[in-house]
Amino acid sequence: MNAIFGELDHPPRLLMGPGPINVHPRVLRAMSVQLLGQFDPEFTAYMNQTMALYRQVFETQNRWTFLINGTSRAGIEAAMVSVLAPGDHAVVINAGRFGLLLMEIAQRCGARITTVEAPWGSVVDANAVEDAIKRVRPRLVAGVYGDTSTTIAQPMSEIGALCRHYDTLLYVDATATLAGMPAPVDAWGADLVTAGLQKCLGGPSGSAPITISERAAEHIFSRRHVERGLAGAPAMEPKGERIASNYFDLAMIMDYWSERRLNHHTEAASMLYAARECARLVLEEGLPERFARHAQAGQAVVAAAQAMGLEVFGDPAYKMTNVTAIHIPTGIDGERVRARMRDDFEIEIGSAFGSLAGRVWRIGAMGVNARKHAILSTFAALEAVLRQEGFSVRGGAGVDAALSVYQGS
Ligand SMILES: Cc1ncc(COP(=O)(O)O)c(C=O)c1O
Repeated sequence: MNAIFGELDHPPRLLMGPGPINVHPRVLRAMSVQLLGQFDPEFTAYMNQTMALYRQVFETQNRWTFLINGTSRAGIEAAMVSVLAPGDHAVVINAGRFGLLLMEIAQRCGARITTVEAPWGSVVDANAVEDAIKRVRPRLVAGVYGDTSTTIAQPMSEIGALCRHYDTLLYVDATATLAGMPAPVDAWGADLVTAGLQKCLGGPSGSAPITISERAAEHIFSRRHVERGLAGAPAMEPKGERIASNYFDLAMIMDYWSERRLNHHTEAASMLYAARECARLVLEEGLPERFARHAQAGQAVVAAAQAMGLEVFGDPAYKMTNVTAIHIPTGIDGERVRARMRDDFEIEIGSAFGSLAGRVWRIGAMGVNARKHAILSTFAALEAVLRQEGFSVRGGAGVDAALSVYQGS
């Protein structure tokens, strides 16, 4: 007999890793709203509202601010493949797993890559980026603002100024920071910025907000080739080197999100409802207030870890507020600790990738979880588990330190 399995029925778990995190209840409710046809005026109004909301979240005037259906890397791929044609030069800022991902995606687009690198835990020097730009005069500079793998945020305003000066486009992956740390797209002078919902925006993964400057949009439209079954208008004659992906062809996706409403994919309505509600929540709270809440949560995590005698990874001057990497103490089995946190306390903390795998845990405090109770519960549990695993820690040290951040002492 074929099994039909049970209904989804797991205990509530506190997700304190680097994302995904617990989804705000209002976002879950929005996702259960009934669907509409994709050209229903009520639905296209929701699309326009979502564009307006994300302009505010990205702190931009960019007309082209919308959603890519797919997880955060769908946003990255759409930006890269729509800008980079085979043979174009790209400079990639790489100091972590997601810098490496940008390199890989740019390579798959057939671009010629120049990397500017720094060891994991630090940031790339803007002078080195300038040297690379001067050397290769790239079409695109690409970097990560908040590489979740290292918990370090590369400053972007100086890179944006360089890109303006040398007239090159700047792409920024703000997946792990948007709505948690300031990411002022226009003030940076960034041309394409993408994100995901499952971090500081407090939603599920599966939708990638994107914003695109006029200069970048002009370049993308210079490669516009409308699908054969839709073409017709004289203004839509095929132009330039065709974008190598159909699904991630931003020129076609922008036609879909414009008044033209030229059909491309079928918009993932439930994800649009989720993204819209995430942005409403962010803006109701206020960007400065939300950044401050994430910063305070990050301080509490660091204070708790240090009070327990644990060492925080990476250059503190550039540390993301919302994710903290903590060295696993010598002699402690990091995976056993994570398993006990989950099995005994229903709390998830993160492992790590690449050269940091097995060396650090990553604790995120994002979205609804960037709050006192979530951090106190996490550190109360971590203390108990570490004591059980033979690590000597004064009872209550971490919780007291986190509490004192919230009490302002
Ligand atoms: C900085 C950064 N970029 C890109 C990604 C890829 O995101 P997704 O898994 O949603 O495709 C992640 C995921 O953790 C990330 O942290």
